[in-house]
Amino acid sequence: MKLVIIGGTGLIGSKLVTTLREQGHEAVPASADTGVNTLTGEGLTEALQGASVVVDVSNSPSFEESAVMDFFTKSTRNLLKYAAAAGVGHYVALSVVGTERIPESPYLRAKNAQETLIKGAGIRYSIVHATQFFEFVKRIADEATDGTTVRLPPVLIQPMAADDVAQAVGRVAVGAPLNGTVEVAGPQQFRFDELIRQGLGARNDPREVVVDPHARYFGAELGERSLVPAGDARLGEIRFQEWLTQPAASGMRVTSR
Ligand SMILES: NC(=O)c1ccc[n+]([C@@H]2O[C@H](COP(=O)([O-])OP(=O)(O)OC[C@H]3O[C@@H](n4cnc5c(N)ncnc54)[C@H](OP(=O)(O)O)[C@@H]3O)[C@@H](O)[C@H]2O)c1
Repeated sequence: MKLVIIGGTGLIGSKLVTTLREQGHEAVPASADTGVNTLTGEGLTEALQGASVVVDVSNSPSFEESAVMDFFTKSTRNLLKYAAAAGVGHYVALSVVGTERIPESPYLRAKNAQETLIKGAGIRYSIVHATQFFEFVKRIADEATDGTTVRLPPVLIQPMAADDVAQAVGRVAVGAPLNGTVEVAGPQQFRFDELIRQGLGARNDPREVVVDPHARYFGAELGERSLVPAGDARLGEIRFQEWLTQPAASGMRVTSR
């Protein structure tokens, strides 16, 4: 079975390509490196030839409001058009738990628009809603930093390792289309501030993490359960403390503060 991984050179995409190849599938990464540009359609006809499954794990280079909406809508329209022309039977996309609950966030609004396009395209599909990646903890902290203080609301979060995300997406990609959404999450829930405090503390990051109920998360105020799965999520296995001891966690290390 040929699966084309859009964004197959990214954090999740590269792990997904490896996982699928280990299982004996023909997994083909598609990104600028392989001559594919989803915004223009360049390279998509060639890349999708003979593909049974398209998995979109690409991401917008910019999270700025109009740029991110432009990326996910243009790119998804192109992907759906070329996938239909190639006779692709299963369209899989990775999105975020809570996209429909946090419309104040420009990024999640764009992900929601991506999902709406997929649902209306007439190709059998599966959407995987994942919680925040452990690898994203430092980016979250940076976004919430004011001087030397990180302000976060005391809401629940159930983050997961990118390795577990790739496994979950891989299982969905080789299965029958769900024509629906499945939620995946990590094995533990944290208070948001506590997770970031632990993540930064493990890397000797001197920033102080404080609770602020009105602190915004990428532009949005959050409710207690905005970021955690609404239903029975499939759970990953890797725990945060275990992940912090792995070399992959070194990307969170602060070198210049
Ligand atoms: N971060 C989180 O906590 C989180 C949580 C849940 C879901 N997600 C979702 O997970 C997905 C993957 O995230 P990630 O962190 O793995 O992304 P990433 O590491 O930033 O990788 C993005 C990939 O997209 C490719 N790409 C960007 N623009 C492209 C274009 N115009 N044409 C073709 N390829 C393009 C990149 O290729 P180049 O490097 O060549 O540009 C790269 O391979 C995202 O859709 C995100 O919404 C993230």
